[in-house]
Amino acid sequence: MPSLPPPRAIDAGLALRRLLLRTADALLPPAAALWDRTMGVERTQVAGALAELGVADALGGNRLTAAELAPRVGADADTLHRVLRAAAVDGLVRLDRRGRFRLTRIGRTLRTDAEVPLRDWARYMALPSTQAAWGDLTASVRTGAPAFGRVHGTSVWDWFAAHPEEERLFASAMRSLTQLDAPAITAAELWPQDGTICDVAGGAGTLLAAVLEPRPRLRGVLVEAKGVLAEAEAHLARRGLRDRVELVEGSLFGELRAGADVYVLKNILHDWGDAASARILGSVRAAMAPGATLVLVEQLQDRNRPHPFASLADLQMLTQCDDGRERSAAELRALLTGAGLRPGRVERAGVSALIEGVAA
Ligand SMILES: C[S@@+](CC[C@H](N)C(=O)[O-])C[C@H]1O[C@@H](n2cnc3c(N)ncnc32)[C@H](O)[C@@H]1O
Repeated sequence: MPSLPPPRAIDAGLALRRLLLRTADALLPPAAALWDRTMGVERTQVAGALAELGVADALGGNRLTAAELAPRVGADADTLHRVLRAAAVDGLVRLDRRGRFRLTRIGRTLRTDAEVPLRDWARYMALPSTQAAWGDLTASVRTGAPAFGRVHGTSVWDWFAAHPEEERLFASAMRSLTQLDAPAITAAELWPQDGTICDVAGGAGTLLAAVLEPRPRLRGVLVEAKGVLAEAEAHLARRGLRDRVELVEGSLFGELRAGADVYVLKNILHDWGDAASARILGSVRAAMAPGATLVLVEQLQDRNRPHPFASLADLQMLTQCDDGRERSAAELRALLTGAGLRPGRVERAGVSALIEGVAA
């Protein structure tokens, strides 16, 4: 698995990128720079269409024209050429004078055999259900209320339960994001060498597998919704870990039937508002024996510091989830305290942070 650079190097890289982008903007009239900012939906949909059609897999390491590619991906040749030409603007492919396209290093992450394949993330972001919620952002700003439920009449989780193919796609998309951070997260010092670790709403088990793999005496429990557990079962079996992980169907808001030394909530609290987060933490706290720990894995967002990932992810939570938001370390520690847990260590890992709470 590829390893992200240390957090300081990531911060420095992101700061330098912002500086370069600002410098590039300074060369343009401001209206041109703003016009470019309004074209995000095109970018999301171009990447999504290429991902959906499997264009990156079909291109492989070759230079091909759209006419050569189209029959392989079931596309109209002229329209595919136009979409790929737009993708070339964003650096996903290169287009030569003979009309042939080839993948760039960024475009290669859309291949299913990429080290961290972002194909399903691109497909998920471009889904009509995801985009429709984003399309109602202004109403969320007016009212302060999240968008998905207003637009679709149901929470995203109930939507997924009714649309299993989207649920599987989202689980797979989350798996890719977790893969990016997993090496840094698993290298953190707060994981035990033996005992049991319970990942609550742990998706397809990607983080659990990464923590268990180098610690042969450690066992796992994965609590998830039914549809996601099916995805997890296959994933854990592929990694040779199925016999070390107990799969438990359960709700974040019900009784947590899992005894463990360490509980994990990764990218869960950011899906929910403070009141629901307190209920989730209360369920986990009730299952914890004295001395057990809970590790929150979240991106940190300080109120007055824009962050290139967390500040946009914050709006992803606003549009897609139930009152979700990104929080600062202090806000997360306050939630832990409110649930009767003593805040412990805070460790940065990749673009995430690990925030520990200890049961007295
Ligand atoms: C943002 S994903 C995070 C998944 C995983 N922890 C990760 O980081 O890859 C949120 C997860 O919460 C699960 N979830 C949402 N509502 C739930 C509920 N009421 N009970 C159990 N799981 C739930 C979803 O199935 C989804 O896998």
